[in-house]
Amino acid sequence: MTDDRSPAREDEPGGGGCPAGAFSRRSFLRGSVAAGLAGAAAGRLRESDAAFAETTAGGRGGAGAIAFHGVHQAGILTPPQPVGTFIAFDVAAAGRRELTDLFRLLTARVRFLTAGGLPPTAPPGSPPSDNSILGHVVVPDALTVTVAVGASLFDSRYGLGVRKPAQLVTMQPFQHDALDPTLSQGDVLVQICANHRDTTVHTLLDLLAHTKGVLNPRWRMECQRNPPRPVGTPRDWFGFKDGITQPDTTSAGQMNQLVWVQPHTAEPAWAAGGTYQAARIIHFDIDAWQALPVARQERIFGRRKASGAPMYAVSETAPDTLDPIYTNDPQGLITPLNSHIRLANPQTPQTAATSTILRRSYDYDRSPDVAGGLDLGHIFCCFQRELNTYITMQNRLEGEALVPFINPRGGGFFFALPGVRDDQDYYARGLLA
Ligand code: HEM
Repeated sequence: MTDDRSPAREDEPGGGGCPAGAFSRRSFLRGSVAAGLAGAAAGRLRESDAAFAETTAGGRGGAGAIAFHGVHQAGILTPPQPVGTFIAFDVAAAGRRELTDLFRLLTARVRFLTAGGLPPTAPPGSPPSDNSILGHVVVPDALTVTVAVGASLFDSRYGLGVRKPAQLVTMQPFQHDALDPTLSQGDVLVQICANHRDTTVHTLLDLLAHTKGVLNPRWRMECQRNPPRPVGTPRDWFGFKDGITQPDTTSAGQMNQLVWVQPHTAEPAWAAGGTYQAARIIHFDIDAWQALPVARQERIFGRRKASGAPMYAVSETAPDTLDPIYTNDPQGLITPLNSHIRLANPQTPQTAATSTILRRSYDYDRSPDVAGGLDLGHIFCCFQRELNTYITMQNRLEGEALVPFINPRGGGFFFALPGVRDDQDYYARGLLA
């Protein structure tokens, strides 16, 4: 997929004196960027390269494409597609310059993959430029690729410490967490979502091939969103409709208030338009859950299992944000005090500022686990303008009745970068400038 034989850029140091790994990484990146970007400038466009340039221009793409260019990244307000991959990486870029090359390369690949089109024709005798998993012409398939950075990227390696988003921290274990280091943290998180699994696999293989040696996979979760059963919000593996109460993603005002980092705040200027992402790998104890009567399960969530309605209503969409509801139920006789929804959003003036996040979670099945048991769960994913909103909410949930049925095992906190605005822009440009 990448042309290692592309001519070296003359303004970069050559291989002499470099460790072999570093040299091959650099030439790898050079080749990729050259193939995707500089190739056009050098007038080496083949017919298929012209099509490539055309499909990526404007980042809009063909039918079924979700626009790539914008003030914000796609894959955040985008209604969740049925298939998702979350992959976290350690970055092995040799310095700030190679890190910049990496983000430029990622941008070029994602700009193409999300738009779709004809991959460039490889020179005779060279490996093909695309694996053809999606056929001769790459289809957009509602693909979104959302790139986020972890606190560790701001350590001493790249001199970015002073530019770290104000609230970005390495996720520490909450009270009931048993974090597996091999499933936790990461310098970069890439969230890949699409309508079909072949599209996310195609995207993953493409990104891995182009960034080999510089982006080293740390953990990965393959997941899905279930279809509505029978209608409304999809159900998670506990059989409950999950994702009903959400902020209004069509309201720019609400999104600016709740999701997007705003300019002229305590955050660094480059971060405006980005958002904090929490991704938590949470194993479900399905056997224990299925041993509970439904009435007990409903009291644990504070919602009806069949309809998804709050305990005091009949409809899934019944508003549960009416203050009188909990005011009239101070003892939790209808909606238990330690139920999931009541602790997530207690609907009190004291908790109003820490009760709304944008959830965009997926379900995973990695069964059997090493012991031959079930490993089903949730990659709980949410976006919020302040990471502290999530942390405060999660701390409240450490007291919930659901605790015995879930095991948080990994994930991390990240900052989803602002959007790539146009053909000249690239991921993290403001951060790296
Ligand atoms: C094991 C993982 C989890 C499961 C199975 C789960 C499931 C559910 C379900 C079934 C609902 C009710 C329906 C709905 O409004 O979506 C709900 C609501 C909610 N959950 Fe979770 N959830 C999980 C983890 C979390 C976490 C980690 C947070 C945040 C820290 C969270 C925050 C919320 C919020 C804010 C609501 C809406 C509350 C409201 O305003 O009514 N959930 N969740």
